[in-house]
Amino acid sequence: MEKFYIKGGTTLNGEVKVSTAKNAILPILAGAILCDGVVTLNNCSKYSDVNYMVKILTELGAVCKFQDDVLTINSSVADKFYISDEYTKKVRSSIFMLGPLVARFKQAKVAYPGGCNIGTRPIDLHIKGLQSLNVKIEEKHGYIYCDAKNISSGEVHLDFPSVGATENIIMASVFCKGVTKIYNAAKEPEIEDLQNFINAMGGKVKGAGTSTIEIEGVKKLHSVNYTPIPDRIITGTYLIACAVTGGKVCLTNTNHLHNTALISKLKQSGCKLQLKNDKIIIEVGHKLKSIPKIETLPYPGFPTDLQSQMLTLQTICKGTSVIIENLFETRFKIYTELTKMGANIIIKDRMALINGVKSLYGANVTAPDLRSGAGLVIAGMCAEGYTTINDIYHIDRGYLNIENDFNCLGADIKRIEG
Ligand code: UD1
Repeated sequence: MEKFYIKGGTTLNGEVKVSTAKNAILPILAGAILCDGVVTLNNCSKYSDVNYMVKILTELGAVCKFQDDVLTINSSVADKFYISDEYTKKVRSSIFMLGPLVARFKQAKVAYPGGCNIGTRPIDLHIKGLQSLNVKIEEKHGYIYCDAKNISSGEVHLDFPSVGATENIIMASVFCKGVTKIYNAAKEPEIEDLQNFINAMGGKVKGAGTSTIEIEGVKKLHSVNYTPIPDRIITGTYLIACAVTGGKVCLTNTNHLHNTALISKLKQSGCKLQLKNDKIIIEVGHKLKSIPKIETLPYPGFPTDLQSQMLTLQTICKGTSVIIENLFETRFKIYTELTKMGANIIIKDRMALINGVKSLYGANVTAPDLRSGAGLVIAGMCAEGYTTINDIYHIDRGYLNIENDFNCLGADIKRIEG
């Protein structure tokens, strides 16, 4: 088991390139099963979640090869529609395979997904969406069985704009004759990226980024060379890290339009930000003000995936802050760990009340999930003394050697065995 050993009290300065979005790559990898040829993905960052999805594709019979960070997938030779629980337990996005499998093979058998331990994470919207396309679904013995021999285009009304359900339904309907419409679709940039990827293979999807998406069925999808979008959650994590430690950081390969909710909060706190075409520069030279209220919401609201990092920032700001988590019910697990570091946080149901303290101190803590783990790395960099973070495998699911990026900017983080 690897750990991080962090010497606190460093500020961050310099330039760092943001890697490609995990949450864009994962549905695109699922969508590769739709391709009757070869998918070439550039800048395909090898997050551990991505490696697991590649293993799933291989289990289905696709031939996947990494050459540096270029991944090629020949899924035209895939011949299986069954995914065992060996990998689905490890990566929640395995649920995205349902849509492409029913589109391609007209049947699927997928074990229930795992993923970050941040709440119950039901899949009812995925199931109802597929049923609206005439897919028969049975759930038994921990597996979801889909019979899609009569799959057809249709109208899907999502009760909630679920990212995964929206992506799954888009992929399921790609080959359905006629037009499928998704109402109350999620609007995340990663959905628009999936649309662009499918259209680059010859698909006909429009409306992603708005709440109504239309998918006109095509007969087949051809080979493609595609570069997914940069990771807005990594961008946000690094901006918050600089806000916490102080300093001046320039992030490249980023799109500030994907982070407007965070940027407005950081400005409100007192951070100076310069927004350029594909760059963001943040400069922080003094103690920041608390944000009175932050509430997580579907895009373009404040992202739940930046809530733990923002909570970490609020622990050392001047004043009191309330954070309301609307998406995942157990996403405040970082608070017990931050409390060990001297933070003053009260949790009541889906609300956290944070009274800013002068400073945090180093402690032996454990990453409870991916984004909380990132929040703890940020806390460790600003704390007095040394912090050890256990269970950093959670962090590797969505950050590519986070310690290297922060060390390049002046942090002192060691990855150690133990
Ligand atoms: C995606 C992201 C994840 C992010 C989340 C919300 C990926 C790989 N993961 O996850 O990082 O935190 O969006 O921005 O892109 N829900 C249901 N029934 C369902 C599906 C979802 O009730 O069938 C609920 C969930 O419990 C949650 C809300 O809808 O409260 C949002 O979940 P969803 O948008 O589906 O998140 P994911 O796609 O799992």
